[in-house]
Amino acid sequence: MTDIINLSIKEKVYQDKKTKLSILNDFKLEVHAGEKIAIVGESGVGKSSLLNIIGLLDMDYIGEYALWNTPTGKVRGKEMARWRNEKIGFVLQESALINSLTIEDNIKLPLLYAESTKKKLRLEDYEKVVDEIGIRSILKKKPLECSGGQRSRAVFARGIIMKPEIILSDEPTASLDVENRERIVNLLFHMNKEFNTTIITVTHDLEVANRHDRVIRLERR
Ligand SMILES: Nc1ncnc2c1ncn2[C@@H]1O[C@H](COP(=O)(O)OP(=O)(O)O)[C@@H](O)[C@H]1O
Ligand SMILES: [Mg+2]
Repeated sequence: MTDIINLSIKEKVYQDKKTKLSILNDFKLEVHAGEKIAIVGESGVGKSSLLNIIGLLDMDYIGEYALWNTPTGKVRGKEMARWRNEKIGFVLQESALINSLTIEDNIKLPLLYAESTKKKLRLEDYEKVVDEIGIRSILKKKPLECSGGQRSRAVFARGIIMKPEIILSDEPTASLDVENRERIVNLLFHMNKEFNTTIITVTHDLEVANRHDRVIRLERR
């Protein structure tokens, strides 16, 4: 099996005028296509920072990162934009919904940037995803008219609508009841099985973590 992620971080530094924080020291990660990886570790250890790096949202760190066998520093702007929009799906806590748009328009946002053939296919998937995660009744609502759990399911739908090759989720089930947690985990694992989607999930839920192929524990050092 070939690795699609070859990441080797020496350190990630957050620095302001007074303080310097160094995290993810000597952290290495290699991931095969189609693997399911859970990332656990105490709050503040750097899990979200790591997802931002894997997902190319943060390229400011010391280390080396090859994605699909291409050094990420060499990927040009247009190709990088396509990777971010189509090949990598984010379900990040911070990727908040836009409050002035309906849930439907929020979920379909990534389609705005997609070419038309792809758009058509993804619109068919959209209908399925909406039913599988049970959010049809809120599609015409604005985010602030929805519950926290409904919003996090919408963030999830937006993250997977492009049928990306890698799905990065940051505590996707944190604000959900058991039934909705199962819906999301099942959908993630269904995509993994059906389309060989690589799954990387940050979670505090050990039961969810243990259903992945590998659990990686981040430690402070
Ligand atoms: N943009 C930022 N600027 C400065 N410090 C940050 C920033 N983002 C995260 N940190 C700090 O980096 C550490 C790791 O944060 P984070 O990756 O969010 O951890 P986790 O997701 O494991 O809780 C924390 O101490 C946090 O305060
Ligand atoms: Mg976090």
